[in-house]
Amino acid sequence: MCVLVCGGAGYIGSHACVALAERGHRVVIADNFSNSSPRVLLRLQRIIGAPVECERLDLRSKSAVARLFARHRFDAVMHFAALKAVGESFAQPLAYFENNICGAINLLRAMHEAGVARLVFSSSATVYGDPQSVPINEQARLDVTNPYGRTKLVMEQLIDDLCGTDASFRAANLRYFNPVGAHPSGLIGEDPSGIPNNLMPYICQVAAGRRSKLSIFGDDYPTPDGTGIRDYIHVMDLVRAHVAALDYLMRGEGNLTVNLGTGRGISVLELVHAFERASGCSIPYEIVARRRGDVAQVYADPSLAHRLLGWRTRLDVHAMCRDAWRWQSINPDGYQRPLGKLKSLPLDAIETKA
Ligand code: NAD
Ligand code: WQD
Repeated sequence: MCVLVCGGAGYIGSHACVALAERGHRVVIADNFSNSSPRVLLRLQRIIGAPVECERLDLRSKSAVARLFARHRFDAVMHFAALKAVGESFAQPLAYFENNICGAINLLRAMHEAGVARLVFSSSATVYGDPQSVPINEQARLDVTNPYGRTKLVMEQLIDDLCGTDASFRAANLRYFNPVGAHPSGLIGEDPSGIPNNLMPYICQVAAGRRSKLSIFGDDYPTPDGTGIRDYIHVMDLVRAHVAALDYLMRGEGNLTVNLGTGRGISVLELVHAFERASGCSIPYEIVARRRGDVAQVYADPSLAHRLLGWRTRLDVHAMCRDAWRWQSINPDGYQRPLGKLKSLPLDAIETKA
């Protein structure tokens, strides 16, 4: 199959390209590189063993999206392209609505006109807002608390409407919990621009010496050690679920909205200590005030994904930390360093299968 991967140069999309290629699919990336580097393409070529096609385009441009679909015959689409910073979404809600909703509508329109009827959509546990109880299953109340989350919820609803009105259209809304880690080669990984918003990339940058210490946002939550609990999921497990979801859609089994998490909650302090063990680095930290909008505990009930897709996570928190650190230590400045200058590990020396 030929799969269009919108946002395929980004953190999760790039890993999905590897998983799709391993599954034998041809991949075409569409990305405007607003939050990624074209350098990821050479890294992908190194991992996959063949060049990856890529079109530089902005999904907000209806005509550019139409031209993309005129040039290729896609069998399915994975849609990762979105702005994703919660804080920024409060400052620039319209930019988030335009990018994440208008961009996605342009994509859906082009798919409809080209008769491409299989979509895997990146949703988020953010659609559960402040959950009433954990673990969270897919029946939990939906309640967004920020403009970014609203873009995800709106898109899920639009996609559900399309599925309801067009019997040939099949879609999977995948609600990610907290994706972390990197491809085991250390060649691709998460490369946030500026100060990382998320915990794992922040820890990695402290370990690499780019930041002096981690600020832990509160130790007075009603959790065993007082720090926030989340469901961290290895990005390789996450993208394996995407391939399974695509297979499900291609079999025509119906539409799908599922949580993608491990089902296990890990506190901030537990993650810090697991990282220290996996990397051998010490992570200095200080406890500061709670971050506005944070909640005590968020973790998934992932059993529906297991039932429908036969998928469950395989990689534990040690693997998450080990692989995040491998990526960070080989690429202390992310994608800024050209491939030739990498102190890369030989690919055949490690297990690289998704
Ligand atoms: P990312 O920023 O690394 O990747 C997104 C990619 O989309 C980037 O390469 C960016 O350049 C591209 N993009 C954005 N807007 C575009 C546009 N208008 N046109 C073309 N390309 C565009 O983010 P990620 O962490 O890989 O996240 C992927 C998806 O998963 C997003 O939809 C995000 O909302 C969702 N998600 C991420 C997380 C997380 O913690 N990383 C959690 C839940 C859901
Ligand atoms: C995890 C824990 C923080 C940074 C966000 C989005 C969510 C989804 C995933 C896209 C919390 C604590 C963090 C730091 C800290 N993204 N922390 N110091 O908040 O669960 O989810 O990313 O859909 O929508 O909201 O992830 O990694 O920011 O925080 O103490 O420097 O780490 O308080 O308990 P979060 P996170």
